[in-house]
Amino acid sequence: MTENASTRDIPRVSIGTWPTPVHEAPRFAAEHQLRSLWVKREDQSHAVCGGNKVRGLEYLLGRAIQRNVKTLVSFSSAGSHHLSKTAWHARQLGMSTVAVFVPQPNAQYVRANIATALAAGARYVPANYATVLPKTITCCLRERLRGNGPVMFIPPGGSSPRSMYGHVRAAFELKEQIDAGLVPKPDYIYVALGSLGTACGLAAGLHHARLDTKVVGAIVSHRWYCTARRLRKMTSKASWAFTTALGTTRPRVSDDLGMLQPPQIEDTLGRGYAQFTDSAMRRAAQFKAVEGLPFDGTYMAKTLDGMLNFIERRGLHDKNHLLWYTYCPAPPTEIDVKTLPSALRRYFDEPVQPLDV
Ligand SMILES: Cc1ncc(COP(=O)(O)O)c(C=O)c1O
Repeated sequence: MTENASTRDIPRVSIGTWPTPVHEAPRFAAEHQLRSLWVKREDQSHAVCGGNKVRGLEYLLGRAIQRNVKTLVSFSSAGSHHLSKTAWHARQLGMSTVAVFVPQPNAQYVRANIATALAAGARYVPANYATVLPKTITCCLRERLRGNGPVMFIPPGGSSPRSMYGHVRAAFELKEQIDAGLVPKPDYIYVALGSLGTACGLAAGLHHARLDTKVVGAIVSHRWYCTARRLRKMTSKASWAFTTALGTTRPRVSDDLGMLQPPQIEDTLGRGYAQFTDSAMRRAAQFKAVEGLPFDGTYMAKTLDGMLNFIERRGLHDKNHLLWYTYCPAPPTEIDVKTLPSALRRYFDEPVQPLDV
């Protein structure tokens, strides 16, 4: 199947810069006796506000424009990249964002993401795990009653069948880079499992692009969320949305899922979401020292750590490995923290984690 056919009739707004480059990481590979390690630079998906979320936002915001939406409502953790990138890109397109958030461990990137979203006009609404859904529904209703035009709910992490198109496309983009000789065909792609859209869209896309590369997901959010069942379901949804857009019938589940269930890395999460670990931060520092790329402690450092554990345990040193590099620091933004409500101000007053250097 061709990628062009897949996306023809789906509303999309062009935000990102494609393709994102692929770079080799030869020094880090040599230090870990890996034959081949490459990095897909999803951080370069946008000159100012990039990262993996941009691919999905092209479709989510494309739909929002089609529906003349003025306000987006979503929920996530306080320092979420998803909330921050959504607010920033929505603002560029004349939309505002309501961000319902639950508390999370503090980190530098959390401050930066909050600052960026606030500067983009996001309205943060505090919640906890018990109240986050009712508060989100209330926010949607309230915004609708305000009469400012249609409101669109965006699922946490921005992951939905629609947004996963972006990651399906990424697989076709990678295939073109392989065919052009820019990168060897990876045997394994390593990607962080947050809301699962990146990994599942990619897995479905690889399947349809006829690439026998395995997506290996590193659990970095919540174990109860990153289940094999949910991965299967979301990969199937990404695949289904893709084939439906082509006008073909839904593939049989067995056809669909044969190679799509990603093996998972479960041993890198540590004490929980956004709690940095020694091992991940040590390896991230080593990567930065030899390859010059910074890693955040929540997503990329743990994915790197999990990747090395996965390779070492299975003796996969002679395979081709590709790290899906999704972290893009928020653009530097000044805000007046004194004016913030306490639920947000605490992230600027309280210390960051000791490992966050
Ligand atoms: C930097 C970064 N990498 C990876 C992920 C995981 O992507 P997904 O939510 O699609 O699983 C996220 C999710 O928030 C992220 O912010």
